[in-house]
This record gives sequence, C-alpha cells and structure tokens, in this order.
Amino acid sequence: MSNGSSAAPETQPAPAQTLVYQSGFANEFATEALEGALPVGRNAPQRPPYGLYAEQFTGTAFTAPRDANRRSWLYRIRPAAMHSPFRQIDNGLLASAFDEIPTTPNQLRWGPQAIPTHPTDFVQGLVTMAGNGSPAAQAGCGIHVYAANRSMTGRYFYDADGELLIVPQRGRLRLATELGLIDVEPQEIAVVPRGLRFRVELPDGEASGYACENYGAFFRLPSLGPIGANGLANSRDFQTPVAWYEDRDQACDLIAKFMGNLWSAQLDHSPLDVVAWHGNNAPYKYDLRRFNTIGSISYDHPDPSIFLVLQSPSDTPGVDNVDFAIFPPRWAVAENTFRPPWFHRNVASEFMGLIHGVYDAKEEGFVPGGASLHNCMVGHGPDAESFEKALAADTTKPNHIVDTMAFMFETRWVIRPTSAAMEMVQLQKDYSQCWRALRKRFNSSER
Ligand SMILES: [Fe+2]
Repeated sequence: MSNGSSAAPETQPAPAQTLVYQSGFANEFATEALEGALPVGRNAPQRPPYGLYAEQFTGTAFTAPRDANRRSWLYRIRPAAMHSPFRQIDNGLLASAFDEIPTTPNQLRWGPQAIPTHPTDFVQGLVTMAGNGSPAAQAGCGIHVYAANRSMTGRYFYDADGELLIVPQRGRLRLATELGLIDVEPQEIAVVPRGLRFRVELPDGEASGYACENYGAFFRLPSLGPIGANGLANSRDFQTPVAWYEDRDQACDLIAKFMGNLWSAQLDHSPLDVVAWHGNNAPYKYDLRRFNTIGSISYDHPDPSIFLVLQSPSDTPGVDNVDFAIFPPRWAVAENTFRPPWFHRNVASEFMGLIHGVYDAKEEGFVPGGASLHNCMVGHGPDAESFEKALAADTTKPNHIVDTMAFMFETRWVIRPTSAAMEMVQLQKDYSQCWRALRKRFNSSER
C-alpha cells in the first residue's frame, strides 16, 4: 500500500486570479459559474439546466434545528457516486486513534516542522500530533501539522471523519474545492466541511502549518452575551468562494479519510465539477487580523474565552468539543495587574501553536511553527523570564503587544499525543526547565 500518487496525469493548477468571495458566516449562499445553472424555485427539477446532475450535500441531520442545519445543493457535471471502489492505502503519519501509548501528564513543547526534502503534497505531509474522541463517536478532534513542497497533482482529497480547520504558518495555500477556490495565507484560516472534495496547491512552492480535524458539531461563531451584537470574529469577515468548476475528462485519484484510515479510488474526471450551488454547507476563510480583540480596561484580564474565534459545541451547554482561540496583537492596559497569562491548571486541555512573532508568556523556545500541549490539570503559565519582566513592568502605562499571532485548540477532553509526536526530534525534552528559575519569593515577615 502506498499513498503516493499513481500514474495519473498532471492536474493543471487552478487559474491565477484575484478571487471573489461571498460574505458572511454560514449564510444561505447561491452562486453559479454559468448563468442560469441554478434551478429556480425547486432543488431537484426533472431536468436541471445544462444537463447537470442535482446532488444534496448535508452536514447535519435532516432534522437538525433550523439554526444548526447545514446542507447545500450541488449542480454538477457528474454525480459524486461515479468512482472505482476504494482500496485502503498507507496512512503515512496520519492517525485517528489516540490510545496507542499512555498519555503523559508532562508539559510538552515541540519545535517547528521542517519542509520535506522529498516531493510531498499536503495530504502526504500531514502528521498527526495528538487528538481525542474518534470519528466513529463523532466527538473529539485530531490535531495535525503539515509540511509540503508540491501541489497536489492528479489527486483530490476528502475527509469524511471531520471538518478541517487549516491554519497556515508558512506559505500560502490555494484550496481548489468542489464549491470554489480559496486562497489562504499565514494569519488567515480556512475551514473545509466534512466530506468536501478538494485539492491543495502551493503558490509559494512550499508550505507548513497546523490543522484541526473536528469530529464533532460544526464550528460556529460563539454567542456574544453582554458583549453585544458585534465583536470578536464578525460574521461579515468570513468569506465563502463562488462557484467554479473543472470540466476535465482525465484520470485522477480520490483519497478519502474514513474511520481513521486513508482510501483511494480512481475517477476518469475531475471531482471539482460543480457548476452551481446553493446552501450553507460550504468552505470558508477568515483573516485572523480582522479579529476584534476585547480585554480588560481596568484590572486583571478576562479568561481566555474572550479570545474565542470559533467553537464546536458538545452536548453539554457551555462545554465545547473543541474551541479555536487566538492571541493577536492588542493593547495591555490593566493597572496593578500581572499582565501576561497567569499561572493556571484547567480542566480543559490546550494545544497551542504560534503563527507569527512572539507569544507574551513565552519569549524563548516557543517559536513560529512550534507547538505546545498542556493537558487537563497540568500546571503551566509564564516562564521565569516572562514572569520577572511582568513583575517589573510599569502598569500605569499601556503596553502595545505587537508582532504576535498565537492560537489554541482547546477541548473538554484530554489531548493524547501520538507516538509519532512523542518520538519527534522536535520534541523539546527540557521544556519544563523554563519554570525552574522561578525562585521562592515568600517572606512571612514582609507584606
Ligand atoms: Fe493554558
């Protein structure tokens, strides 16, 4: 078994152009690449325009409440059913089972992934770092990193196990999907719905970053409560592609991730042949630099839930399957306050990555492209150097935190690293030493 591409012909890159998007989060979009391709007044007419096939693509149960229901109608050249039988191929370093080794309670941190030296596309370059739950249970998440140096050619991919949140750290990606083209660069994210077929091109020739595979409920925007009608990630800043298609009768491979394993089938045509579509089950991108960051203007700082971009709720209200939060540039103005993140132990588990710059609680060792994992009840917080600096800071003056973009995948379940992650040369075996220099400051005779 191999996950290398077969002798399929080269896929032409998607046309270079400035892309057009539709605005809004999970809107009821309607888009057609050929005028009149969208049926009017019904979803499944007897004979759709241009001889297209109608196909429904659901993301939730038919009977999900209307405000949580996701589905789209696709009008395509051939239905998605047309492919050879799938056969299992090698998973590479992808995993969707997280019980292969005992989970350590130690604080963990990794250096960045290297760009491969041999030809590697996005799917071949995925490495599972950690995860929890399972695709079978439709709960939990897989946390991956990727490093690639060639575009997918003659190969397409879909993930039936979960929605895929892609966080580029180095190099741009062009996602050529069934529902249109998305360009995404570092400090932007893209979300591809469960099951949507796509190809990843690398306009810069190489790319690396992070991906969260969400096995649970769709990512959605959090409720804002007393914040009001605006703030955090604003709905209008989410961008969904317009219809775009390939009418290409050439052999290609379709790679499926299903129940934790990779499978390959052959098609005699491009699966990106959707000429028109409407609905709210669609991919999107978001520029993290547009996040409306909110914080304390008096003292202390709020819990990091204030930095929430997207949440995948679980069946327990207020306790999420997985959250995506960011730590973007901002002003720190709280007076008589320890301004970096405080020391803490949480019931939730936290996987962090650094997209750009420096993170304010760890000025050394946590570098762009790196990652850290602090699991349930594992003590952590600012390193000794950052602590001393914060203690000496003049908090009567504002501090502009610039040149930074860190993120966190936080989940209610323990995040279990894979053996690949624990054996990686990037694992920093001395990470816990960063707190060792925190000296005893207690003096019972001095307040
Ligand atoms: Fe934390």
